Amino acid sequence: MSTLPLQDRVALVTGASRGIGAALAVELARLGAQCVLVARTQGGLEETDDAIRAATGRGATLLPFDLQRQEKELDMLGPSIMERFGRLDILVHNAGTLNKLTPVAHIEPKDWAETVGVNLTAAWRLIRSCDPPLRASDAGRAVFVTTGRVQRPKAYWGLYGATKAGMEHLVLTWAQEVVTTRLRVNLADPGVVATRMRATAMPGEDPATLPRPEDVAPGIAALCLPAETRHAARVEIAPMAPADAIPTAG
Ligand SMILES: NC(=O)c1ccc[n+]([C@@H]2O[C@H](COP(=O)([O-])OP(=O)(O)OC[C@H]3O[C@@H](n4cnc5c(N)ncnc54)[C@H](OP(=O)(O)O)[C@@H]3O)[C@@H](O)[C@H]2O)c1
Repeated sequence: MSTLPLQDRVALVTGASRGIGAALAVELARLGAQCVLVARTQGGLEETDDAIRAATGRGATLLPFDLQRQEKELDMLGPSIMERFGRLDILVHNAGTLNKLTPVAHIEPKDWAETVGVNLTAAWRLIRSCDPPLRASDAGRAVFVTTGRVQRPKAYWGLYGATKAGMEHLVLTWAQEVVTTRLRVNLADPGVVATRMRATAMPGEDPATLPRPEDVAPGIAALCLPAETRHAARVEIAPMAPADAIPTAG
């Protein structure tokens, strides 16, 4: 019997209650990973768990909490996953918030705090909490989901773009610090994808004309494979037809 590429590996995915994170969690589970899923919405996490069970016959571990407000839970992720599973091989920080599109001069302190909290501070706290177990893995992989907006500033998108730019810098710095270890750290830019976030930003757009979360999930999952050699890269994810997706046979 062939072995799945992520058999026996443990993957932590943030923002897995819908959109890109939910599709990625299903893809990682399909590749054999035991998934630990974080987001605020219990119902959304349960829907992702249902999809994983339907695809694999096995469930995920659901951790419903707020990455901005519940710092203790966030800081305990690495140690508690180690306690429960004895390993952590994959971290994907996909959770993100666009918050409001507004002129920089009009950004409200509350919106600033929320957006910095999820997009940037949570990335740092995840690195802090998960660095030891990821280094201990024989093929630790960390992926942070970013946006093309970092390279293409646009009026009213400053809060989102600045927090993702900060995350990119932090992640690429960490990547240099772990370059001599087995850990591979990369940024993934999914491009435009039909999700709730995109619909909020572009309400007039027909989502049927855009790639779906399932189309970009295989490209992000590829960065999590033990065979992956890219490191400190900013990877633009090309949408894939299901037929091109990563084969599950080992
Ligand atoms: N869609 C695009 O076109 C596009 C383009 C470039 C980059 N991206 C990036 O892709 C990633 C996924 O976005 P998406 O498009 O799939 O958006 P989405 O459908 O809005 O999903 C965002 C996810 O993040 C979670 N999240 C937000 N705030 C959170 C918090 N405080 N605590 C815990 N979880 C939180 C949400 O869960 P809860 O609400 O349940 O907490 C949800 O699961 C983001 O990092 C985004 O910046 C998206």
